[in-house]
Amino acid sequence: MTNIGDFVTEQDVFIIYDDINNSIKGGKNTKMEENQVYRMPLIGDPAPAFEAVTTQGKIKFPEDYKGKWVILFSHPADFTPVCTTEFMTFASMADEFKALNTELIGLSVDSLYAHIAWLRKIQDIEWKGMKDIEVKFPLIEDIRMDVSNKYGMIQSQSNTQAVRAVFVIDPKAIVRTILYYPASTGRNFDEIKRIILALQKADKDNVATPANWQPGEDTIVPTAGSCGVAKERMESQDEDNYCLDWFLCFKKEK
Ligand code: BEZ
Repeated sequence: MTNIGDFVTEQDVFIIYDDINNSIKGGKNTKMEENQVYRMPLIGDPAPAFEAVTTQGKIKFPEDYKGKWVILFSHPADFTPVCTTEFMTFASMADEFKALNTELIGLSVDSLYAHIAWLRKIQDIEWKGMKDIEVKFPLIEDIRMDVSNKYGMIQSQSNTQAVRAVFVIDPKAIVRTILYYPASTGRNFDEIKRIILALQKADKDNVATPANWQPGEDTIVPTAGSCGVAKERMESQDEDNYCLDWFLCFKKEK
């Protein structure tokens, strides 16, 4: 049984409408009479627009973030231990993300005042050499779950808390990466930074990045789409390009 406001697939949307209206309508974020049925944004989709109250004032997405990469992430609740370590870590890396033209936006189903109290308390905590941590990026108040529902952040684990979701959104407001973690697992923020670096590298040089790629390492050139290109690739290896086989060619990073 799918409830109103549940996080559903597009197929579910069709089924709900078929049941209720005895006709197939469906589609993205289709409105029912009073309530909204949501379809999770997928990689390659436009990131859902929203307006929200945050600890840094009101924000309007994507308008306020034109030309920037955005990491929109949710956490289950303020004043919880794993979330506290995550915020300390993310906030301490904020300048590294800024240097990558990347803005951070946090979210949980908590009030603005809970957010403010928690972020003030975080400044008193010292952990792993991090102290006096000021969270300068906006943290969305999402008591009504308007934003979290749009992004499929409320999942079966809890009706009232978001999972640990991460949406990497590019400067054209397209969803490029989606990560979901359970409440018990703190995220690896170095990996999130690596994803940004890999996406920016892929866009800039029209390449892909191999397993465990790190900046400065060789990248992968798109697979040959014809027998002619495959042959040419194998025959024209030089100091800039090398192939392990016709379908696995690397570009050397200098
Ligand atoms: C935590 O951040 O520690 C946490 C939050 C919700 C459920 C479990 C753990």
